[in-house]
This record gives sequence, structure tokens and C-alpha cells, in this order.
Amino acid sequence: MANPLQDPEFFQNPYPTYAALRSLGPVQPVPAGNGPARYLVTGYAEARAAFTDQRLSKDTARIFAGKDTGRNLHPAVSHSMLATDPPQHTRLRGLVTKAFTPGAIAKLRPYIESVVDEYLDNWTAGERVDAMESLAVPLPVTVICQMLGVPEADRAQVRAWSNDLFAAGQPERIDSASHAVAGYLADLIDARRRTPDDGLLTDLIRARDGQDRLSEDELVSLAVLLLVAGHETTTNLIGNGLLALLRTPELFHQLCEQPHLVGATVDELLRLDSPVSIATFRFATETISIGGAQIPAGSPVLISAGAANRDPGRFAEPDRLDLNRDARGHLAFGHGIHRCLGAPLARAEGEIAIHRLITRFPGLRLGVAYGELRWRRTRLMRGLEALPVVP
Ligand code: HEM
Repeated sequence: MANPLQDPEFFQNPYPTYAALRSLGPVQPVPAGNGPARYLVTGYAEARAAFTDQRLSKDTARIFAGKDTGRNLHPAVSHSMLATDPPQHTRLRGLVTKAFTPGAIAKLRPYIESVVDEYLDNWTAGERVDAMESLAVPLPVTVICQMLGVPEADRAQVRAWSNDLFAAGQPERIDSASHAVAGYLADLIDARRRTPDDGLLTDLIRARDGQDRLSEDELVSLAVLLLVAGHETTTNLIGNGLLALLRTPELFHQLCEQPHLVGATVDELLRLDSPVSIATFRFATETISIGGAQIPAGSPVLISAGAANRDPGRFAEPDRLDLNRDARGHLAFGHGIHRCLGAPLARAEGEIAIHRLITRFPGLRLGVAYGELRWRRTRLMRGLEALPVVP
């Protein structure tokens, strides 16, 4: 049986495939070459439950122990907090939460606004521009570099490594970037240890829980995770979200007239075209039954936030953008103990970008026919290669 997640059509529009699989049942096996079948969760209730199911592990060290993966990923990348289970995860998350606070993010808002405005200053009325290249791609990495205290002069290099870490189908490039970026951040942490400042790295170095603090390796790993986790994800929130609004110009105009709706709109945009289409790796630690499927021990389980957020059992007319819908409860940021740590930051960036766009360019329109747009060939993320718009 062919793997429906490999079909070129799936990358352009995964939703018909998700709907077809869901109609067979909320959890379905999908073949995976020579390996064990993977189980794709497409139902909302089942996805939400799976996110908190303790029989599903994220501990990659455990599943790959003793196996030659043929990879040379730096351990700071392969063994991040996102790839741990409690109690290890509880400890790391507790410590990072002391530094990565909503207060730290609120302080950043004026900076985010100034960066967005700087990008939009380069847009000229009537001249087609790629909203990905000139806004959605550079914004998140610039903001996280600011938070981590990466000097301006190094940002282009850090951005390039960060891009390489997402080089689909190029494992050597990914592995090499993982070493470069981990080495760079280790040096930066060392510099902050010697000369503390009021930034996030210094806060992470100082974070403590009783006598407990983050080790050197844990600090590097967390810094890398913060750099990569918010990168392509927030880019795709802005890209997919802007596209959804421009495809339905009447809703774009409604938002221009009711800018106070932007906050709620970001949730609806996250629901409608979730940047993380399939959540990160999990596997069954024992034979389990979920959503009517028997999942053998050791099988990978893929929870699709993108599919769950379009489950008609949870959201009426799920394929329709509706600015008046209460979209809270969507699973775009995951759920449970691994729920996105950066959600307030991502939201702030999305809100500010959309707010500045509707305020400065109320006549904004798509620069090409919808059918000409191309989506990136990545299964887990959902994002555009380019988004030409005319201000
Ligand atoms: C729209 C943008 C974003 C989306 C859609 C998103 C989505 C997600 C999702 C679905 C997860 C859970 C993955 C799973 O359980 O398999 C997650 C975890 C995480 N995200 Fe985000 N994310 C976004 C932005 C960010 C930003 C800006 C940061 C930080 C700078 C960030 C940092 C993290 C971290 C550290 C985790 C791991 C949490 C843990 O393991 O406890 N994310 N994100």
C-alpha cells in the first residue's frame, strides 16, 4: 500500500488526505518503507488524549539506544527537552520556565513592532513583494536572536545554520549545522557567564530550583531548541495566516475595520492551517489501543494537529475561515506537558505582523493566482515556499 503522506498532492494540500483517513477511523496505520507501520491520529478527541497519554514516549534516546542511525546530529539537538519524558522533562521545563516567562515576552513587543515596521518600510504600494522572504522568514529568527543576545554581526550566520537545520532530505547538512550552532551557542553562554547581562541566556544560567540548575550541556541544548522551535513554525503562522486572509478578501477587510479581532483571529488562523501539521516523534512503550486501533509496542505515533483542528466533530465547517468562531481549544501548539513553551511569543509575533499589515496596507492583495502557490515539501511542517503579495 502506498504511503499517502508521500504523495506530491499531500504536500500541496494535506486536508483531503487527512479527511479520507479520518473517515476510516480517527487513528490509522500508514506504511513506512521497511520499518514498523506508523499510526496517524487525525481525530480531535483522540489527538488531544494522545498528547497526554503516558504510554506514548518522546524519549528518542530510549528508542534509538544501541541502534546505528547513520547520523551525526549534535546531542544538543537530538536530545533536547522535546525528546525527553518525565521526570527529566519536568525538571528541564521547570527550570526553563523560570527564564522564558510571559513577562520577558511582553517586554519584547516594542522590539517586534520596530522590526516588523522596518521590514514593511521596504514594501512599495503597487509593487509585488514576497511576504515570506521579506517578513515571515526573517522575523522569528531575528526576534529569538535578540532574546538570546546574538550580536547583530553574527545573526546572518545563525540564520543560515538555523535554515540548514531544516534542510529536508539533506541529513549531512543538518548534522553539520547542528555542530556549528551548538558550538556557537556554547561560546555565547560562556561569554554570558563571564559577563552577565539582562538577557535570556543570563536568566537561564541563573535559573535555579532549590540547589538545582541547568548543566552546561542542558543550557546549550535549550538555547538550540529555542532557536529552532520558534523558527519555521512562526514563519508559517504568518505565511499561512496571511494567505488565508487574502484568499477571502471580505474577511481581510472585516479585520481592517475591526482590528480588535486580531488576537482571536490568530487562533482561528492557527486552527485553519496549522504550522505544525504533524507533531514531533512519539512511540508506544507498550501495545496500546487508541481510537479503535491496536498499536504494537515500539510503533511510532504521529499526532496530526493540522488534521485534528479540521475535525468536523469539534469545529463546525472546519475548512472555512470564520473570524467570529471561538477557535480556542485548537491543538496547533500541542497539549499537555510538551505544549509549546513559545506560544505567547509566537502569538505576539503573529498578532503584531498582522496588525501592522492591516493598518499599513489595507488594500493588500495576493500577487498570483492561488493555484500558482507552492508549498514546501515537508510533512511535519506546513508552509509556503513564497507568498507574492501586492501592497
Ligand atoms: C506559531 C508558532 C509555533 C507553533 C505552531 C508551535 C508548535 C509547537 C508544538 C505543536 C509543540 C509540541 C510538540 C509535540 O508535543 O510534539 C511545541 C513545543 C515547543 N515549542 Fe513551539 N511552536 C511555535 C512557536 C514557538 C516559539 C516561538 C518557541 C520559542 C522561541 C517555541 C518553543 C517550543 C518549545 C521549547 C517546545 C518544547 C516544549 C516541551 O518539550 O516541553 N515554539 N511547539
